[in-house]
Amino acid sequence: MYHVISAKAFTKDHLQKLLQEANTMQNMLTQGASRVLEGKIMAALFFEPSTRTRLSFETAMHRLGGNVISTENAREFSSAIKGETLEDTIRVVSGYADVIVLRHYEIGAAARAAQVSQVPVLSAGDGAGEHPTQALLDLFTIYREIGRTEDLTIAMIGDLMYGRTVHSLVYMLSQFPGIRLICTAPQTTPMPVDVIEYATSRGVHVEFEQDLHVAAKKADVLYQTRVQKERFKTLEQYEMSRDAYIIDESILELMGQRSIIMHPLPRLGEITQVVDQDPRAAYFRQTHYGVPVRMALLKQAVMKE
Ligand code: ASP
Ligand code: CP
Repeated sequence: MYHVISAKAFTKDHLQKLLQEANTMQNMLTQGASRVLEGKIMAALFFEPSTRTRLSFETAMHRLGGNVISTENAREFSSAIKGETLEDTIRVVSGYADVIVLRHYEIGAAARAAQVSQVPVLSAGDGAGEHPTQALLDLFTIYREIGRTEDLTIAMIGDLMYGRTVHSLVYMLSQFPGIRLICTAPQTTPMPVDVIEYATSRGVHVEFEQDLHVAAKKADVLYQTRVQKERFKTLEQYEMSRDAYIIDESILELMGQRSIIMHPLPRLGEITQVVDQDPRAAYFRQTHYGVPVRMALLKQAVMKE
């Protein structure tokens, strides 16, 4: 069954096919809609808040002619509040839908769901673990904006410890040759050792740079992240980590003319609003690439292609 649980499961070939399919979907979106998933149902189970992931998955399903059932605050409004286990919820919902999109606050929740589901489970983020469909749309953004997914220098900035999109994106980039990773993180939120080991064992060159100005000069992509307040044990620890790295006009001046700024969003103060006007600010375009990418994933999962 076509579950999407970890970005590690994707081979380079598979990623390239998905990028091509997402390209086809992007072109189709400008020409109209498709009915390829007519009569099919996607269940969106979100145990954590979301704007982009849930709404772009729902849009993708509608654009393919399918239907959506959803619980957007499942922690409170599903029977989880009565004590039902995730496994039982999935056993039930997998009898209603053809595919389940799950966001959960616990690392490993998507894998547990996949074990008991009769239909494909697509992870929309599991705690501080991974966010594989975001990584695929990030890869598609790089492909569309820069024109290649190899021979790239990517600076990962901010909360590399709890930022699940970062972990999944590193796993996907590790499939491609010529990847150089610059980790620019506060001491309190470094890139997890296992993520670094995974990348280096696959030929990625990893360096650590505390000065964002230095990283900005070298990178093709500045991948900024939000410091994940909800994952810290104390407010004090969060306060120590926030605002360490801010992309503002001084960073724009140092970046290459063909480099881009990405962010999975939502952003707080870590990219100043004045940066939005610069054509190298790719983060809002990045959100829109989520629709064709999730159309490609849904089509694969439901049609078993
Ligand atoms: N939206 C992304 C996530 O859910 C990043 C973030 O929340 O900062 O992982
Ligand atoms: N990028 C992302 O996952 O956004 P949401 O948390 O709004 O879904």
